[in-house]
Amino acid sequence: MAVNKKSLKRLIVALDLEEKKKLNKIVKDLSGYIDKFKIGLIAYTKFGPQIITQLKSKGFKVFLDLKLLDIPNTVINTAKIFAKMRVWAFTVHLKMGENPLTLLKKELASFCRKNKLRKPLILGVTELTSEKASLKNVLKLASLASRVGLEGVIASSQEAPFIRRKYPKLKIITPGIRPPDYEQDDQRRVSSASFALNYADFIVVGRPIIKAKHPLAGVKKILSC
Ligand code: C5P
Repeated sequence: MAVNKKSLKRLIVALDLEEKKKLNKIVKDLSGYIDKFKIGLIAYTKFGPQIITQLKSKGFKVFLDLKLLDIPNTVINTAKIFAKMRVWAFTVHLKMGENPLTLLKKELASFCRKNKLRKPLILGVTELTSEKASLKNVLKLASLASRVGLEGVIASSQEAPFIRRKYPKLKIITPGIRPPDYEQDDQRRVSSASFALNYADFIVVGRPIIKAKHPLAGVKKILSC
């Protein structure tokens, strides 16, 4: 089965694993196909920042999904470390509120300018795809992300068409992607990749790929549905 190269560029594989051997094998098997991996709480807690150095040394872009939610000083200084680690993007909870997010954006941009670093994309988490959520609430959070100048939001494919229409400049990153015959796991607001890619800039997929016997076959299956 052939894979569409443009879709591969829009697929971020979530390395939610704690076995290094397995993680390395998935990265190796997908090398040459996938250029972005997501490191979340599981892999970051298990392997520490070295996992980012390792992926970057192999030429991959790293999306660091630690979903920051704390006081401005803590979040801003953590984000500066992310920039020094040269992550491609990271997540913050939009629940942090307008003033803290505005300050984060401003301080990180100025830090990156001074230190000649590429500013990582700041992506705001709307509502987790594992929960039911009201469209109204997600749009309210997307509006906040747009107002404070974040580069994008994490939202399910159910809200993505509305966010795309109202806030065309915001990047949309969509988890909760499942082929029709695959179990939902703990995800609730799910869709196929082809539906999500009509609206989202990127899709994030973990278990349907990392638990597949052959991860590349998992990638092909996801992108064919
Ligand atoms: O295994 P699965 O495809 O469900 O993985 C989805 C990934 O996206 C997980 O790493 C999860 O932490 C992340 N995520 C999510 N919903 C959000 C934000 C991130 O599922 N709203």
